[in-house]
Amino acid sequence: MRAVSIKQFGDPDGMVVVEKPDPVPYAGQVLVETEAIGVGGVDAVIRRGTLGGFPEGLIPGSEVAGVVTAVGAGVDSSWVGRRVWAFTGVGGAYAGRAVARIEDVTPLPPALSAVDAVTIGGAGPVAHFALAHVGYAAGQSLLVRGAAGSIGIMTVQLASSSVAVTTSSAARGERLRALGATTVLDRSGGEDEHDVILDIVGGPDLPLFLDRLSDNGRLVSVGVVGGFPPADFGMALVRSFQRSRTYATFSLNTIPEGDRNAVREKQFEATVRGDLRAVVHDVLPLDEAAEAHRRMDAGEVFGRIVLTV
Ligand SMILES: NC(=O)c1ccc[n+]([C@@H]2O[C@H](COP(=O)([O-])OP(=O)(O)OC[C@H]3O[C@@H](n4cnc5c(N)ncnc54)[C@H](OP(=O)(O)O)[C@@H]3O)[C@@H](O)[C@H]2O)c1
Repeated sequence: MRAVSIKQFGDPDGMVVVEKPDPVPYAGQVLVETEAIGVGGVDAVIRRGTLGGFPEGLIPGSEVAGVVTAVGAGVDSSWVGRRVWAFTGVGGAYAGRAVARIEDVTPLPPALSAVDAVTIGGAGPVAHFALAHVGYAAGQSLLVRGAAGSIGIMTVQLASSSVAVTTSSAARGERLRALGATTVLDRSGGEDEHDVILDIVGGPDLPLFLDRLSDNGRLVSVGVVGGFPPADFGMALVRSFQRSRTYATFSLNTIPEGDRNAVREKQFEATVRGDLRAVVHDVLPLDEAAEAHRRMDAGEVFGRIVLTV
């Protein structure tokens, strides 16, 4: 099969197109003939080598949509021929065929395209469960920091009342307004306080955002696209002790697979109905994965880039 491999961590040029043997579905796994592959912010973090610990030759990417063509031992053979979304774990997705655990597979409604599935299949449940994790409820004010990526866009759409966003340009802000944002802020985030902040950015400015929580406000970190925060970032909370603010992290890993799949299926159906929008920045062939990463590194992506096979 055709695949993209990280020959050298660092620049996008370190990713090369290679021929690889087809993966084999082991017990509890399915083999998916890939139609569409989601290109996420975390793929770029891994490719840059920021996280370390990954072997040279890694096939990047973690989510695909396509058709199940084989199953491993213990998996019901009726899955063969079904169109699915699948999480492949860290790596393995930028390829013509990919394997996934059956628990990480969600069937697609017939009317949902594979491109739309990989645009919301990973990000949608993150947005849903992260908001639940910090007890977000209708009527509370919400700030989404780093809203122009796939997780932020889903969060804005799931918000039930006023939602402020940070973004880097007026044009991106207009696009976020069209998706439901009621206040558009630059990356500094303005001065207002919020009941809930969903933060995808992290980085050196995280303490400033902890100071923009209202009394009993909660900030949840779901990503670190701007890098890790300073080691003493928690001091912002301790100094404002009398305001009862809370800092939380959230990872989808802590949500049982059945719950993730149930929410993902509902979001897929909502997308087919037109109640949710899958925002696709670009669709490129698999061979142009390096170009997809260049566009991510240039900061020009709004929503998701998708690779097709
Ligand atoms: N918690 C989980 O379970 C989970 C699951 C999957 C992924 N993740 C994490 O989520 C992150 C990727 O999410 P994503 O794909 O939605 O994000 P993304 O598209 O990579 O970035 C979101 C937005 O953040 C803004 N941004 C980027 N760098 C910034 C900086 N230095 N300062 C301020 N704003 C900046 C950009 O928008 P503007 O240019 O418009 O400002 C960008 O569009 C990764 O950290 C990944 O590890 C978490």
